[in-house]
Amino acid sequence: INVIELEIVADHESASARLAGCIVEQVRREPASVLGLATGGTPERTYELLVEKVRAGHLSFSQATTFNLDEYVGLPPAHPQSYHAYMRSRLFGETDFDPKRTHLPDGTADDLAKAGEQYEALITEAGGIDLQLLGLGANGHIGFNEPGATEDSRTRVVDLTEETIAANARFFEAPEDVPRRALTMGIATILEAREIVLIATGESKAEAVERAVRGPVTSQMPASFLQQHSSVTFVLDEAAASLLG
Ligand code: F6R
Repeated sequence: INVIELEIVADHESASARLAGCIVEQVRREPASVLGLATGGTPERTYELLVEKVRAGHLSFSQATTFNLDEYVGLPPAHPQSYHAYMRSRLFGETDFDPKRTHLPDGTADDLAKAGEQYEALITEAGGIDLQLLGLGANGHIGFNEPGATEDSRTRVVDLTEETIAANARFFEAPEDVPRRALTMGIATILEAREIVLIATGESKAEAVERAVRGPVTSQMPASFLQQHSSVTFVLDEAAASLLG
């Protein structure tokens, strides 16, 4: 078991700046980096900071390749709440990423199992992920690997828990509109990344952070599998770190 490195900063703004700094460093060192990306509320500010850097001419993503963690099943890329749309409006469409090198799972594929396998093959073909960004669910999920996800899981269809559906309802007009299933990278997919940075901010994540960092490695807390990776950093604000003691 390896030690998860902790970087605890004052607030969400500082955590976003820190995470953006990790990405900038990676891409400056290796412009053709393969980045694993996350959606959700937590990295929104990070993406804004990256857009500012590119616009100011301080950074280019033109040679980078990206793979997002997940996409809702049934939402086409044009749907405003799809993760395709999220990435387009917050990052890809605002910077110089080559659209041919940005990837998300295809939640509208007829054969979702095959789409999952193809996604894994694309990651392998790209040479694997250099730096994987993660958010953290209050229930301990990473990607949409909900409690119960196994260590050997790969990109596949999963059922979202009621808790996750409720948490994500804020992005939709009505809770009924939240898709019940998603196509997500698995725990094994995530653990193959060469380096992992997880961002968690706010009190609602404190318990999951504590269990992920200090608790037993268990499917009941999917983020605890990160203890088995040799290069993981958690970027936390004080609220999210408050139960670490
Ligand atoms: C998003 C993802 C999820 C989120 C998590 C936290 O691509 O994979 O694991 O990172 O649900 O979401 P927020 O940041 O909205 O609290």
